[in-house]
Amino acid sequence: MPESWQEKLEERLRYYEDLGIRLFYLNRRVGITAKSGETTERPAEPTDGSPEIALPGPRAETSEAAANAQALRVEPVIVPSGPSLFESVEKVQGDTLLKIRDDIGDCTRCKLHKRRHKIVFGDGSAKAQLVFVGEGPGADEDAQGLPFVGRAGKLLTQMIEAMGLQRKDVYICNVVKCRPPENRAPEPDEVATCSPYLLRQIDVIQPRVIVCLGAVAAKTLLETNRGITQFRGQWLEWRGRKLMATYHPAYLLRNPNAKGEVWKDLQKVMAELGLELPRKKSS
Ligand code: URA
Repeated sequence: MPESWQEKLEERLRYYEDLGIRLFYLNRRVGITAKSGETTERPAEPTDGSPEIALPGPRAETSEAAANAQALRVEPVIVPSGPSLFESVEKVQGDTLLKIRDDIGDCTRCKLHKRRHKIVFGDGSAKAQLVFVGEGPGADEDAQGLPFVGRAGKLLTQMIEAMGLQRKDVYICNVVKCRPPENRAPEPDEVATCSPYLLRQIDVIQPRVIVCLGAVAAKTLLETNRGITQFRGQWLEWRGRKLMATYHPAYLLRNPNAKGEVWKDLQKVMAELGLELPRKKSS
């Protein structure tokens, strides 16, 4: 096995171990399969690479996976919201991600521009069925102009791959597009200035599911002051789309014990998207 594969495999196994998955057996048909039940089975076949399809579409579900999907489907709950940040955002006819990026330009609309190096617009498929929204770029993202490329980003990539997807299948963006100094949380005026562009990005992509990573993203989109623990892991309805809030990968780096909770949330997302779910432990 080439060294780079081995490193990737080791990294993946460490991630599963963090999720509490420790026993594996080799399934010759599909590759590595976890044995513990809460686990994950990577798809045997890669995505078909078609530019038209952002996610490997619903695979032929086994009856077990279908039963899991059924069990995990939850009725949307609506989080009461205050006056809407987004109400005044006008729909742009024929909008595209390119046009939005163009409109942002070399932005100086809020004070975050003063210390940023690169605007971090977003990355991934313009036709993604799944969009992840984070808080704002950190130092690595600010340097590279790409979202979630630092330590937390590597963990997010592992989470996406554990779902049987690749980063190019989804879209990843943030509430604010410039790095808040010293990684502080974005301030309300910064969020208010930047979030209309996020709204336009989501409107263009039209994902089936939005996953908010952490409290800032969740509170911004849902316009709520409620703590994320009150609604994390529940299906919420946001502008006609399904939204799930879960913990931020940076929180998971500090609190690895919470990875299992996030994995449960992501399995709900997988069920909703018709992705193959981990096998249940056979008794
Ligand atoms: N944290 C975020 O919220 N977004 C990034 O892009 C990187 C780290």
